[in-house]
Amino acid sequence: MAVGVFDSGLGGLTVLDAVSKQLPDVPFVYFADSSHAPYGVRDADDIYDLTTKAVERLWEAGCDLVILACNTASAAALRRMQESWIPKDKRVLGVFVPLIEALTERQWGDNSPPREVAVQHVALFATPATVSSRAFQRELAFRAIGVDVEAQACGGLVDAIEEGDMILAEALVRSHVDALKRKMPSPEAAILGCTHYPLMQETYQEALGADVKVYSQANLVAASLEDYLKRHPEMIGSGQDSGFLTTGDPEKVSRHATQFLKRKINFTKA
Ligand code: DGL
Repeated sequence: MAVGVFDSGLGGLTVLDAVSKQLPDVPFVYFADSSHAPYGVRDADDIYDLTTKAVERLWEAGCDLVILACNTASAAALRRMQESWIPKDKRVLGVFVPLIEALTERQWGDNSPPREVAVQHVALFATPATVSSRAFQRELAFRAIGVDVEAQACGGLVDAIEEGDMILAEALVRSHVDALKRKMPSPEAAILGCTHYPLMQETYQEALGADVKVYSQANLVAASLEDYLKRHPEMIGSGQDSGFLTTGDPEKVSRHATQFLKRKINFTKA
């Protein structure tokens, strides 16, 4: 029994960490498409092709259920995959749903018409591809009305984090928050809509101010996965072993991953 976790690079380790803590008996296979990261500057067709290839590799590893921890893949490819590509005995889930459930304080199964919710001004920080897909706004509109979402594409941030250049990453977060505040001076909530950004959560919170509620996905996705597996225990696949796969240089990726998670991580070639 194993569940796959996919990300374009290392950011999804924040999600992996949370799901492993929440479900310690489930083996997880993590796939980092490091040689093609960042996804955030690619077009939708490209992201679809890369994501489907990675998901097939996770199916091969015995993971019938794959979590697209990557917001960019969830935004640009998931709907198309679900409409025409995923076989009946497999599942691929994205990361927007748990986030929108938390933001709107509504359950996903709640299919009543969209209604007003507590928050009205929401800042979304995400990659350029996620911002231009408008997937977050589309999914939100199914549940809530009257929410003003201002999206800020955080160009350059994923590369800085993947390269381990945290000084540059901090400077970029501050300048992206400044740019957002020029468009929306007083957001009530901010979404970190990219798996890499929780690694910079403190800097986001500091730059936004203490009164802005910052949502990041890892714990929300973990709780939602636990709930999903309770309802669909048959979706835990046949794989028995946890592991870390990358399309990049395993030695370099392992070194950066170990730095991020502060525990020894060994990637092998996908
Ligand atoms: N980590 C991915 C996300 O959540 C994308 C980063 C990238 O590859 O650009 O959006």
